[in-house]
Amino acid sequence: MNIQARLTQCQQRIDAYLAEMILPQGIEPRLQEAMRYSLFNGGKRIRPALIYLVNQMLAGLDEQADVAAAAIECIHSYSLVHDDLPAMDDDDLRRGKPSCHIAFDEATAILAGDALQCLAFELLSNTELLSPEIQLKLIRTLSEAAGYRGMVAGQAFDLSHVGQAISLDELEAMHQHKTGALLKAAVLMGAQCSGKASSAQLQALNQYATAIGLAFQVQDDILDIEGSAEQIGKPAGSDEARHKPTYPALLGLNDAKALLASLHQQALEALADLPNSEALAELANFIVARDH
Ligand code: IPE
Ligand code: IPE
Ligand code: MG
Ligand code: MG
Ligand code: MG
Repeated sequence: MNIQARLTQCQQRIDAYLAEMILPQGIEPRLQEAMRYSLFNGGKRIRPALIYLVNQMLAGLDEQADVAAAAIECIHSYSLVHDDLPAMDDDDLRRGKPSCHIAFDEATAILAGDALQCLAFELLSNTELLSPEIQLKLIRTLSEAAGYRGMVAGQAFDLSHVGQAISLDELEAMHQHKTGALLKAAVLMGAQCSGKASSAQLQALNQYATAIGLAFQVQDDILDIEGSAEQIGKPAGSDEARHKPTYPALLGLNDAKALLASLHQQALEALADLPNSEALAELANFIVARDH
């Protein structure tokens, strides 16, 4: 099966699970509408796909992976809703549609993000599908990756260095936090919910995740320059217009692409001794070549 077919399969699986998990009626229909809008507006579902593919490699894919995949996608969707707010990147377009605060309003977007974040941990903690030990591991992994030592730290650094010169090390750390942390968490959560990863497998997966985590954001920065709004579903040229710290801004486009190629290589090398890792290798190929 090629990677596009695999990704479609993962998308369908996570969409069906999430649709079932979000109760159709709550006390604030507009809030729930904004949560649904943000969760089901056409994301690539890369983080759930990572969880499914790692889980499949180690344990043959079981329904425990659905809980972890749903939780991480809730965190990711919340991060995008808040990232687009006027106080952050101030972007009006997301996944080819008006950003949540445009389609609704700012307060609703803030609250929908807050609620999606809580929902992630509700899903992980309120399930019969996982043992308490695995639940706790997943909650710990996701909360660390999402919070002040992970994604939120990267976002804070990003916003506080707009228009400033930063070093290459700082840029790498920023990308590893704001984007790498959640992608790394996805790989680890796929392993954790299988309950079956050896320490050698975890080490290889960790190296793979570090490489694709950084590569994902480098390609995102490149697409911001080379892609059209129609293609990437978000405003093109937004980073440059806002003087955001990015790899192409610091290194130039050619060196950013060379770095991407080297990270791709590192990801594939990390998988070399991992049996049945072809799908993860194809996902790494997809991440560096993706056009949206
Ligand atoms: C966008 O992530 C934000 C970054 C971390 C670069 P994705 O490119 O995975 O966004 P969707 O979910 O597919 O829209
Ligand atoms: C943000 O990176 C990553 C998040 C943690 C949301 P960007 O600001 O570059 O993401 P896009 O380009 O808006 O998707
Ligand atoms: Mg941003
Ligand atoms: Mg942004
Ligand atoms: Mg971007």
